[in-house]
Amino acid sequence: MKHYYIKTFGCQMNVYDSERIADILQTLGYREASSPREADLIIFNTCHIREKAAEKVFSDLGRINLIKEERREQGKETTIGVVGCVVQAEDEQIAKRAPFVDFATGPLTYHRIPEILAKVNRKKGIPVIDTEFPAESKFDFLPQNSNSLSCAFLAVQEGCNNFCTYCVVPYTRGAEYSRPVKEIVEEARRLVQNGALEINLLGQNVNSYHGEDTAGKERPLSYLLRELAKIDGLKRLRYTTSYPADMTDDLIECHRDLDKLMPYLHLPVQSGSDKILKAMNRRHTSSDYLKVIEKLHKANPDIGMSSDFIVGFPGETDEDFQATLDIVNQVKYIQAFSFKYSRRAGTPAALLKNQIEEKVKKERLDILQNLLFSYQLKFNKDSVGKIMPVLFESRGRGRNQLFGRTPYMQNLHAELDKSCLNKIINIKITEATTNSLIGVMEGGTPCQK
Ligand code: SAH
Ligand code: SF4
Ligand code: F3S
Repeated sequence: MKHYYIKTFGCQMNVYDSERIADILQTLGYREASSPREADLIIFNTCHIREKAAEKVFSDLGRINLIKEERREQGKETTIGVVGCVVQAEDEQIAKRAPFVDFATGPLTYHRIPEILAKVNRKKGIPVIDTEFPAESKFDFLPQNSNSLSCAFLAVQEGCNNFCTYCVVPYTRGAEYSRPVKEIVEEARRLVQNGALEINLLGQNVNSYHGEDTAGKERPLSYLLRELAKIDGLKRLRYTTSYPADMTDDLIECHRDLDKLMPYLHLPVQSGSDKILKAMNRRHTSSDYLKVIEKLHKANPDIGMSSDFIVGFPGETDEDFQATLDIVNQVKYIQAFSFKYSRRAGTPAALLKNQIEEKVKKERLDILQNLLFSYQLKFNKDSVGKIMPVLFESRGRGRNQLFGRTPYMQNLHAELDKSCLNKIINIKITEATTNSLIGVMEGGTPCQK
């Protein structure tokens, strides 16, 4: 029996894609290997978003080649494949930079892996590279989703038409595509049958979703959420990542009406400065963004916000940076991701003359992160003493520890019997740090076998 090993870099969409690649390989008779050394097929699912992410792929690939050589000495052949956004961006360069790679295929063509593997066998030594933007949708060719996790991802939309001037995604994932409603509802039902209690709908720009229903009518994300909320057994819904200008009133109303929709929203603002937002080609100002948040809070006063930030975008002055700190102080994010601007070849911002010095970027990132962490810590500390329903999705670090998430996506560890795994349990929060909570089971006896 042949074994595969998949290493995933980048965003949640890549995690979903890797699960689907695993489904394809299972239909070909492969089983999962516990380490790359035991694998006949090693696949890297890659991310191109920032320079560091892309460079790490190549340094890690070098290490994988050593394993390939070691295995060859033991008389075992290894196929190395690269999938994902780096492939779409680098194209034939992959074969130059990592000549030991047997195949490379973009994020929209991995459904062709069975044919690609057959070609690899025929063309021994010559890498097979497929970076087409296909006319067909990969979703029409993938096997059924066999994921059995209690927290499942479900891609509903892919690609992006926004062309923020710093971002590679429109070039690596192509134009926006929304999957039909029926296909998504069927996949969700299947995930719930397999044990999912929570489904996180994914898209690079998920709230621009406009998939067709069976009558051929385009439906928005709000429609999809209301349909999915009807599924018995599904307890929690989330969606990510949203674009501020596409937060329509019908979607905001879902946060008022749907109990299953969790009170947490990742809504990246990137910068608080309108001048920088314009240079980034974002279709919103800081006040548009704040208006959306006000509406969200009217719909559900409990909602906790999260965002992505970029510091040191070309031309960012101290005043622009201060505007970013101001918006953080207004929104008081409960979680956030912040990055130094990374110059990406082929994007418009890479050509701007007024690039910011690395030292300044670093200083600004430190200041921003300290501020973000202070709000995150405050939110977590304020949770102490509260009772929250926690979905325990995996084992924790300690022996009798489980890991789960609160409705607000806070990480939580608790000492619980393993029979509590994949259940939603009321937990009293006892301790908090910036990144995680500790809690105990409220009231009742701990889960027993
Ligand atoms: N589609 C999502 C996220 C895309 S990438 C959105 O629009 O929000 C995730 C995050 O990476 C972005 O939100 C942005 O903050 C960051 N990012 C993208 N390109 C970047 C670059 N060139 N340098 C630094 N950060 C970047
Ligand atoms: Fe990139 Fe902007 Fe599209 Fe997000 S909205 S994927 S940041 S181009
Ligand atoms: Fe990275 Fe591609 Fe996701 S560039 S962030 S893996 S869409």
